[in-house]
Amino acid sequence: MKHSTHRAAAAGLLGLVVALGSGLASPASADDPATLTGVILGVGADESQRIVTWYSSADTAQKVQLAPTSALVNGDFPASAATFAAIGGANIATSGGFNRHATLTGLQEHIAYSYRVGTEGNWSPAYSFKTQDFEGDYDFLFYGDPQIGSSGDVAKDQAGWQDTLDVSLAANPNAELLVSGGDQVETANTEAQWNAFLAPDKLRQYPWAATIGNHDVGGKAYEQHLFTPNTDRSAPLYANGNPASNTSGGDYWYIYKDVLFIDLNSNSYTSTSGGGGDAAHLAYVTDVINQHSGEAKWKVLVYHHAIYSPADHAKDSDNKVRRLDFPTAFSNLGVDLVLQGHDHSYSRSYLIKNGAKANPDEQPGAADVYPGPGGVLYVTGNSASGSKYYDITAPDNSGTSGAGNGADPLNPNNYWYNSVENQEHVRSYVKVQVRNDKLVVSNIRSGTCAAPNAAVERGNVAWCNNTAAAQPVGSIVDNVTVHPYHGEGQQLQVNLPNAAPGEFGWTIDGYNGLVDLGTAQEHNGDYFQAAGHLNPITVTDSRRSLAPWSISASVSDFRDGGKTFSGAYLGWTPKILVAGAGAQASVFVPSAYDDQSGGLATARSLGWADQGHPKGSAQLGADLELKIPSSADKGDYRATLTITALSS
Ligand SMILES: [Fe+2]
Repeated sequence: MKHSTHRAAAAGLLGLVVALGSGLASPASADDPATLTGVILGVGADESQRIVTWYSSADTAQKVQLAPTSALVNGDFPASAATFAAIGGANIATSGGFNRHATLTGLQEHIAYSYRVGTEGNWSPAYSFKTQDFEGDYDFLFYGDPQIGSSGDVAKDQAGWQDTLDVSLAANPNAELLVSGGDQVETANTEAQWNAFLAPDKLRQYPWAATIGNHDVGGKAYEQHLFTPNTDRSAPLYANGNPASNTSGGDYWYIYKDVLFIDLNSNSYTSTSGGGGDAAHLAYVTDVINQHSGEAKWKVLVYHHAIYSPADHAKDSDNKVRRLDFPTAFSNLGVDLVLQGHDHSYSRSYLIKNGAKANPDEQPGAADVYPGPGGVLYVTGNSASGSKYYDITAPDNSGTSGAGNGADPLNPNNYWYNSVENQEHVRSYVKVQVRNDKLVVSNIRSGTCAAPNAAVERGNVAWCNNTAAAQPVGSIVDNVTVHPYHGEGQQLQVNLPNAAPGEFGWTIDGYNGLVDLGTAQEHNGDYFQAAGHLNPITVTDSRRSLAPWSISASVSDFRDGGKTFSGAYLGWTPKILVAGAGAQASVFVPSAYDDQSGGLATARSLGWADQGHPKGSAQLGADLELKIPSSADKGDYRATLTITALSS
């Protein structure tokens, strides 16, 4: 539920274009030499958004074109395709070229989309992704440390990475997110490693939710390649406190259906090098959860440096700092699940409350866990690429809570905090099933000892103890179901399908696509006339308040270079295209050519609903009529229609 009970005007822009006279076709686009590489589909601020990021060899204006795949004809994008302008800047010298990204907004449910990046005359190949139901259950996949290049053979690492993506998505074609455990590459600014990481086409079909690792942090390539939503790039969230330096950083959050994800730059854990350390992360997490946890059922944190891991990094001094800084705050904030990387081995913690095992009786490997208040599950992902594995290490006598690495009394070979530890030297990934009243977390093999398995192939590790017959690709290493705590009383639950509860919203169908009024026709030397249709506007209102709403619009002057005529010459006839939500169409507004009322140059109502209207959605449209004196100069004119929604 959104917190806002009243909402300020929200505005949207719609371009209008009209040609006066004939034979004034736009000049063909000049040849654009830009080479476009490294296209990746990224997660957006919510399930209705994606962010596309890429590199360009030239510093030109670029965009993303988007259309339902069903609207493509012989692979050509339709004129109605939406466009999203890209922004970006120059890359650092070692990368060369420029970076670009654009946020795709207003996606609809259950659509197969196609997109491409570039500009007219110089498009990338078309890629595709699909949306699914914007409510309810879904699965996402978590990948530990691809770290391309760390085996010493980039091609072998790429082959394992490609295979894990292929295997995991063949088994889970409807997974909705690919969540990173960090360390995309071995060497922060080595573009050959980034090219290998970005090579799999699955990264253009499913949204990647990037996480920064210690191998990504030492340069700008991470930020250049992987733009993320809602990102706080302030100084305290950089390890050296300097976002302008040749390092990457920042924390970000997004909500995907019922899950609030918060992704942290765990490279910054102490303030001694200039950043804000763990205190800055905790302030960020607290702030995001306070503001947004009401919009989601589950809270999942993601960062690279595992604090409860089983292998080489389990006793690292920085790990012990985080292990004292984080857990009590995470318990108090009601975090459900923490996903981590860095230790290239798999572990699933016991439920940890305030830095100690929540329930001393929780058994190793329990299939079902019941967090109660404050219990948090911590998972560490093994290598998704096979580029590097770390072996399980032994407990010591440093204690069984806090920063201690003592033995589990129930299973003395394991650390006190881990329910399951696993290392076979085979690739794996973590699948999380988000369900109405449970999270199911599974660690699944995506490889065996056989190639591609770079660390084994190259002899970087001496053994591999997976038996392909008993533990084949797709088999499960570990599986746990987390049953959430509902307090001491009883909770009632009801499902309201396909309604975004408490929401008032509107979208322009066809997005910011241009409304083309075509070439105006001259009538008896008196006036030019052109007509068209507003791109339909869908209004959804499912608030309990049944508060009134209205949609209005005004148009700018029409311009072509220095030539202009008044937007007052545009009039409209509002229409209800699909009835619902109590929507009513507003009255006809004539062109100022026909009366002196001012046309759409001043804000005019398109439609509205009164207090007490039914919940639901409606589609509003309008017939547009442009009528201008024939004294206007010839030209290709454009204007912008600004659409405003008001509700209380
Ligand atoms: Fe790492």
